[in-house]
Amino acid sequence: MAEHPDTPDFAPLDSLLHEERVFRPLPETLAAALVSPARLRQAREQAEADPLAFWEEAAEELDWFGRWDQVLDDASPPFYRWFPGGRCNIVYNALDRHIQTAAKNRLALIWEGEPGDCRTLTYYELFRHVNRFANALKSLGVRKGDRVVLYMPSLPETVIAMLAVAKIGAVHSLVFAGYSAKALKDRIDDARAVCVITVDGFYRNGRVLQLKQVLDDALLLGGHAPETVVVCHRAHVDVEMQDGRDYWYEELVRAERPQCPCEVMDSNDMLFVLYTSGATGKPKGIVHTHGGYMVGVSRTFRWVFDINPTDIYWCTADLGWITGHSYAVYGPLMAGATTVLYEGHPLYPQADRLWSTIARYGVTILYTVPTLIRMLMRFGKELPRKHDLSTLRLLGSVGEPLNPEAWVWLHKHIGRQQCPLLDTWWQTETGMIMVSPLPASLLKPGSVTRPLPGIVADVVDAAGAPVPPDKGGLLVIKTPWPAMLAGIYNDPDRYVEEYWSVIPGAYLTGDVARKDEDGYLWMQGRADDVLVIAGHRIGAAELESGLVSHKAVAEAAVVGVPDAIRGEVAKAFVILAEGYEPASALIKELKAHLKRELGPVAVLGAMEFPASLPKTRSGKIVRRILKARERGEEVGDVTGVEE
Ligand code: PRX
Repeated sequence: MAEHPDTPDFAPLDSLLHEERVFRPLPETLAAALVSPARLRQAREQAEADPLAFWEEAAEELDWFGRWDQVLDDASPPFYRWFPGGRCNIVYNALDRHIQTAAKNRLALIWEGEPGDCRTLTYYELFRHVNRFANALKSLGVRKGDRVVLYMPSLPETVIAMLAVAKIGAVHSLVFAGYSAKALKDRIDDARAVCVITVDGFYRNGRVLQLKQVLDDALLLGGHAPETVVVCHRAHVDVEMQDGRDYWYEELVRAERPQCPCEVMDSNDMLFVLYTSGATGKPKGIVHTHGGYMVGVSRTFRWVFDINPTDIYWCTADLGWITGHSYAVYGPLMAGATTVLYEGHPLYPQADRLWSTIARYGVTILYTVPTLIRMLMRFGKELPRKHDLSTLRLLGSVGEPLNPEAWVWLHKHIGRQQCPLLDTWWQTETGMIMVSPLPASLLKPGSVTRPLPGIVADVVDAAGAPVPPDKGGLLVIKTPWPAMLAGIYNDPDRYVEEYWSVIPGAYLTGDVARKDEDGYLWMQGRADDVLVIAGHRIGAAELESGLVSHKAVAEAAVVGVPDAIRGEVAKAFVILAEGYEPASALIKELKAHLKRELGPVAVLGAMEFPASLPKTRSGKIVRRILKARERGEEVGDVTGVEE
């Protein structure tokens, strides 16, 4: 959810965090890696010398119905078009092509419901379900190019619906199952959805959330009215069905044939719209298309996660988030891998749910978020020890800066100091992982390492000039990449203005980062969250990282509050670890600790100990809410905020 930083006078940041630890890959990791250091070096050289040939080679690993005329049409930047003229459908690569291979009978999906029920689907079974539902959608009148909103939690039917919609050339738009009626209505309106797919209810944290009811409430708010609503059974709660508009999924698919060809799409036809909640007002629909997205996601999934047919891969992200799209559904399915899905709350019924799930299915690759890791650290290292986690061979993180302490904890207590820990940086807009180590890379805790081959990222000042090593600046992407957003739905001007106008010719990520002498990138948070303390610009992420490195701190959010003398001072909102109480001695100790860790500039003003921090459902701390409250300002749109 990249927000646009309002910082035309942006000057370089000071970096306070200095991390010296280095982890080299084990010899056995190096020997087994799909992409060896030599191959990686060669890929970088190739991508640098001829980026288009590099991406063309990636495209050739996939199946197309007709070859592209050109790899990249860059005639009218920033409206780049990848593989124009190419004919394809991402679903063909995710499903149909596996049916002709040994992958046919492999598990595509292992799904676990919050109450503990489990369902598995082989590629062939998933294929048949998708075809049936694709035919049902056609029977309902859904056509190529139509938008279909999926208001669903992580269920097998959600994957089936995504693929069915895409298979017939329609456009899916997932809306978080935690969003309110108003947020849902805004998204249905903006997308002008012809159809909405939902469930009767689902399980979250021991309760049943009645989604169909929320949808009914949303539709009563007026605005654009979808022609049809499809409801899947999940929690078996009573729902009202409106004659002629609402249909049960199970009844629709019963009579449909399990064969359905893929609609032949142009590379640049829309695949999905995914809304990110902007700081203010109107939701922003990020558009991704079939061709470039499938190439970027397929290549990065295989390279970063080093996937092989025996892997059981679990990405804990909700399907309604870009990570769920790219790396729980499309990436793993295109690779013919087995992907694990979980419906509910990660700490339900108790804090070891994540660990027990890994043990139950023999998960080999875990891709998760820092907030969950920090939460689980609070419960100590004994909890994971009760479970057999020996199947794990790779760990991944995404969504927020993974502070070195959490990195080292995860690496040591979950990864047995053997599993490479891949901190991957990317965004809804980038569609695919952009900056990340590969399993054979040298790792530094807290660093996302280097841009992947084919990605040209840099750290610059407001004029677009590179900042010196170890100074922070704006992270920009300097050349187009295949899975890049095609634009903002129905708002081309906003696309140009928010992403391409601040630094001419470069894509503005909205994040701040520093590059060290080895070219490794260290994320410092959002540009909007930079603090200016006595003339020093400091990324919120560094101050937070400094705080959570103290054993009493489980989580922290830091925002700048106005100060007559220093311009701004840092205010910290701290969640304490088990067994600690807020006390003046502890506050003093934490302030001293921060100065010890980060130096004398890291002056903390007030400290608060709230019961929880405002977070998005995807686990990101929403600092702007804390900041607005401190300044007595309007909070703006809070539809994406869970707690
Ligand atoms: O601020 C960065 C942070 O998450 C933002 C993108 O959020 P979203 O579009 O919701 O997508 C999240 C999953 C791809 C970025 O602008 N972010 C993401 N990954 C990292 C990160 N910050 C630090 N380190 C990361 N690895």
